[in-house]
Amino acid sequence: MDRTFLMIKPDGVQRGLIGEVIARLEAKGLKMAAGKFEMLPEERVMKHYAEHAEKPFFPGLKSYIMSGPCFLMVFEGKDVVAVTRKMIGSTNPAEAEPGTIRGDLAMEIGMNVIHGSDSNETAKREIGIHFRPEEIISYERAD
Ligand code: CMP
Repeated sequence: MDRTFLMIKPDGVQRGLIGEVIARLEAKGLKMAAGKFEMLPEERVMKHYAEHAEKPFFPGLKSYIMSGPCFLMVFEGKDVVAVTRKMIGSTNPAEAEPGTIRGDLAMEIGMNVIHGSDSNETAKREIGIHFRPEEIISYERAD
């Protein structure tokens, strides 16, 4: 079964959007296989955002992502990476289509509610950074 890594960022948590985001994913037919609420340690932020480490926005991104708790998840489902990318919408909420999470719920590129892996390889890498294998639980979902 395909898996992806999703993370509700501090702005989404502080605005009380955890339930709204999870409700959309579950209603679509995707299945949560792991979930935890935590302050991200610097070491994992550096690994997770390694490709952006040299970008001018990185210091702001890092301090924002460590400014409050995040809700980290693994979701399973057919083509889950592509499906969740579509549901999340463009990185810049101003360009995200209405009906997407960012299109409906966000205004700023730096505070865009949720992160989702952008490929199967990235999903494997990001799940490995944030979850131990025993934290991921497979079970039957009634559809
Ligand atoms: P995310 O999907 O978590 O992956 C990288 C993040 O960097 C992205 O969402 C944005 O929140 C952030 N980001 C990308 N471009 C910019 C930018 N120009 N200014 C601030 N943050 C950015």
